Amino acid sequence: MVLRPIYLDYNATTPLDPRVLEAMLPYFREYFGNPSSNTHVYGWEANAAVKKARQIVAQSINSSPDEIIFTSGATESNNLAIKGVVEANLAKGNHLITAQTEHSSVLEPFFYLKSLGFELTVLPVDDQGIIDLEQLKSSITSKTILVSIMVANNEIGVLQPIKAIGQICHRRQVIFHTDAAQAIGKIELDIEQLNIDLMSITAHKICGPKGSGALYIRRKNPKIDLLAQLHGGGQQGQLRPGTLATPQIVGLAKAIELANGELEAESKRLRELRNYLWQGLSKQIKGIHLNGHPQMRLANNLNISIEGIKANKLLRELQSKIALSSGSACSGDSGKPSHVLTALGRSDQLAQASLRFGLGRFTTKDEIEQAQIFVIEAVNSLQDKSLD
Ligand SMILES: Cc1ncc(COP(=O)(O)O)c(C=O)c1O
Repeated sequence: MVLRPIYLDYNATTPLDPRVLEAMLPYFREYFGNPSSNTHVYGWEANAAVKKARQIVAQSINSSPDEIIFTSGATESNNLAIKGVVEANLAKGNHLITAQTEHSSVLEPFFYLKSLGFELTVLPVDDQGIIDLEQLKSSITSKTILVSIMVANNEIGVLQPIKAIGQICHRRQVIFHTDAAQAIGKIELDIEQLNIDLMSITAHKICGPKGSGALYIRRKNPKIDLLAQLHGGGQQGQLRPGTLATPQIVGLAKAIELANGELEAESKRLRELRNYLWQGLSKQIKGIHLNGHPQMRLANNLNISIEGIKANKLLRELQSKIALSSGSACSGDSGKPSHVLTALGRSDQLAQASLRFGLGRFTTKDEIEQAQIFVIEAVNSLQDKSLD
């Protein structure tokens, strides 16, 4: 068998947990009915599975089942939340607020709305990747409809002060959306405690299937209005029509259930492994920098920059040994510096010299030790070459 590289790109996506696959399989095979078919047992079985999954997802974030809309993932949830809220609240105003380090599936809908004439404030972040709450407060005007700030960043793992952001928004009666694609199942998320009105989640960052996610929409205190972005049948109260993807939905719920059940122990394990990796690399590599806040970050993420090294060269050197990335999976090998690292004030050189390590459920101590050796060897070899 050909040896596969060590997988350390869990912030891009994750392998499906066999327990999630087991839960999904019956809904591909015998229970294949359309959950909206209400005239026979095939439909009833599928409908019951979707109902149960909706309950699990709702409960996991302290919401109710009628506040959960299943989607194809966080990109769709972000689009539905942002465009849907804006369209339903045109009478209230035309001003929107987000932050520089958001994922493209949040930034691009906002840029699109700006091109239609909406006013957009894109908040900067400090050199550790955190927004300034005073700046958020002073950016809100009587015309502000929506604030969208992510829970955890996909490149540097930094956690924003979500509870305080939600409080500010609620006091000013502004709707608060958060992209929790990287946070669900990795930190506790209680929409009441955190003052969240809309929250996007996805299954594939926590060993669930790709193409499956949800949007939480607050229905009371206050009720959030939003308009559908897809038009079709009557599924999900017409907010998101389309035949419900039973296996994907069952997979999302199972992935959340497993991740939350193991959250404390797994966070501790991953934090120790991640810290061990950082300690080893920082001892041995000259000119290494940690990107993002050292504590306010996901346990599974390490993002570094190395002086004088181009990340794409380093990744090529490592590609047969470790599966890693530089920044987000979307920016890939484009050669453009990451917008997240540039927002932190990193120079173009350092922003193009970043490596993102994403650890996860199947990462072992052996793999981390091996990865450390591979990275140190590759950096040394590139630094030697640059001296030639
Ligand atoms: C922070 C963040 N938001 C949104 C997405 C998009 O999620 P999905 O792949 O489910 O559309 C991702 C993942 O790529 C992400 O990391």
